[in-house]
Amino acid sequence: MAREFSTVGVVGLGTMGAGIVEVFARNGIDVLAVEISESALERGRATLTGSTDRAVAKGKLAEADRDALHERVRFAVGLDALHSVDLVIEAVPEHLDLKQRIFAELDRVCRPDTILATNTSSLSVTEISVATTRPNQVIGIHFFNPAPVMKLVEVVRTVVTAPEVVADVEALCARLGKVDVTINDRAGFIANALLFGYLNHAVGMFESHYATREDIDAAMKLGCGLPMGPLALMDLIGLDTAYEILDTMYRRGGRDRRHAPVPLLKQMVTAGLLGRKSGRGFYTYQRPGSPVVVPDEATPPATDAALADGARAITKVGVVGSGTMATGIIEVFAKAGYEVISVTRGAEKSATVCEAVKTSLNKGVVRGKLAETDRDAALGRISWSATLDHLADVDLVVEAVVEELSVKKALFASLDEICKPGVVLATTTSSLPVIDVAMATQRPADVVGLHFFNPAPVMPLVEVVQTIRTSPEATATARAVCAALGKTGVVCGDRSGFIVNALLFPYLNDAVKMLEASYSTTDDIDHAMKLGCGYPMGPFELLDVVGLDVSLAIQRELYLELREPGFAPAPLLEHLVTAGYLGRKTRRGFRDHSHR
Ligand SMILES: NC(=O)c1ccc[n+]([C@@H]2O[C@H](COP(=O)([O-])OP(=O)(O)OC[C@H]3O[C@@H](n4cnc5c(N)ncnc54)[C@H](O)[C@@H]3O)[C@@H](O)[C@H]2O)c1
Repeated sequence: MAREFSTVGVVGLGTMGAGIVEVFARNGIDVLAVEISESALERGRATLTGSTDRAVAKGKLAEADRDALHERVRFAVGLDALHSVDLVIEAVPEHLDLKQRIFAELDRVCRPDTILATNTSSLSVTEISVATTRPNQVIGIHFFNPAPVMKLVEVVRTVVTAPEVVADVEALCARLGKVDVTINDRAGFIANALLFGYLNHAVGMFESHYATREDIDAAMKLGCGLPMGPLALMDLIGLDTAYEILDTMYRRGGRDRRHAPVPLLKQMVTAGLLGRKSGRGFYTYQRPGSPVVVPDEATPPATDAALADGARAITKVGVVGSGTMATGIIEVFAKAGYEVISVTRGAEKSATVCEAVKTSLNKGVVRGKLAETDRDAALGRISWSATLDHLADVDLVVEAVVEELSVKKALFASLDEICKPGVVLATTTSSLPVIDVAMATQRPADVVGLHFFNPAPVMPLVEVVQTIRTSPEATATARAVCAALGKTGVVCGDRSGFIVNALLFPYLNDAVKMLEASYSTTDDIDHAMKLGCGYPMGPFELLDVVGLDVSLAIQRELYLELREPGFAPAPLLEHLVTAGYLGRKTRRGFRDHSHR
């Protein structure tokens, strides 16, 4: 029989604590909510009221249920009030000495059988537990932000946590409607260990002006389907909390430089820019605690006029190549009203591409997304050729041939001879330096990267890559073209992986390393990222879809260019690729897909 928890205490009613109070009270458990001062208590109460009122307004909570929820919560200043609760969850700031002091006092105040839990994200639960005389009754219960919404709870057992305490807490999580993963006490547990290197890297990109905050966030939302971009997420987490988590993970997690907090973070924390809770972090919010972003001096002008500023007029577009990407790109341009010349290496290839474009457009018609007349008009705008000479009078060329530098360089040298002056020459490379192809021409200022995502007709993102020689006009043209295609173009520098792959693949590689270290299982790691962070797929699901060979190749490029030791490909990934387990395409990767 699992133990009954009828009253729980929550210590600290900040970003996490207030949400945790709500989770318990919503599920019929009485809560004693404790803060350090009357004013902090008021703030916590206001957060709870605001959150439940929003739930009522959205129709997710009945008014009567809200009132009953509030009746279950009592508020108090100081830990003494917690003498007769069954369980305490601590959610004070991420400092070991503070948490140890609080646990020592809780140990004194609470009944001998009370379970003491910490919501720490990165500190050692073991070190916190030894501040008490009952380390076997101390456990980590790590909720995710926002606690009422995110389904995951990481239950962290130390080497001395009693098995029945673990079982009781697991049963409690089920009662709260949460999915728990139970793991050992390691810095960052599952989700944060995989998340924070990525978040810190994104802050580094922003700090070095590699891309704007809007573009970094849009890239990860639209390129990977994440619920929010990394900088917006940092603001939600709180920059002070994020700083402490990174700092602890750096010290506890083997001094991986990727966890050394980017200097800008410390500066922002010192300046009081803590994110949503202080009203300003990477973005500016309506008021402290508000989720509503308001424009500030860094907000880019959103008008079409600004996009078109300096952009050249484009009506005729050449697309070179006959693969998946070229086919998708031809369709995208033709549907958006551009006149398209497709150039392949022969009539046969052109016929195949033409068929593929027709099939794809027809699918749109069958699904009711495209009118037959629009399909016919789009097809009518495409002409098919097997010679580059037909690109003499286009305004833009998009190259999507094989990913080999020598081939792309030869092609760009030919385009340089054939195309009229002022043409923007774009490559869709995902891994080669754009500057290498630019320098194969006499007009590097007109060369950009246009990195479409697969499938191009569906994916809303395009990375616009500018080299150190790209002119502002060429970049503006590329951006304006993306907008005309109905895509979001994000501008970034010419570094390996651009924005999306540079942020995504090291995270996937870290997940493989975590599996390799036997810290957790593929299922639990996938669960943690989906239910704790709202990712559309877990890392192993995604790796199997993308292909382990492709992932390994990208990770190798990143490692070679950035020489970051933490980017070294996981040996397990290399072994699986060598063994021919490449993912869904070979019916086996991290999982066996032969029966699905
Ligand atoms: N922010 C997140 O996204 C997130 C997610 C999961 C876990 N966590 C963890 O949750 C914990 C709390 O983080 P947060 O972001 O909610 O911090 P926060 O700064 O938003 O809130 C901390 C609260 O603790 C209160 N407090 C400080 N000293 C206290 C004391 N002696 N007694 C009672 N209350 C006290 C403060 O007044 C404040 O309201 C940390 O361990 C953090 O790592 C945070």
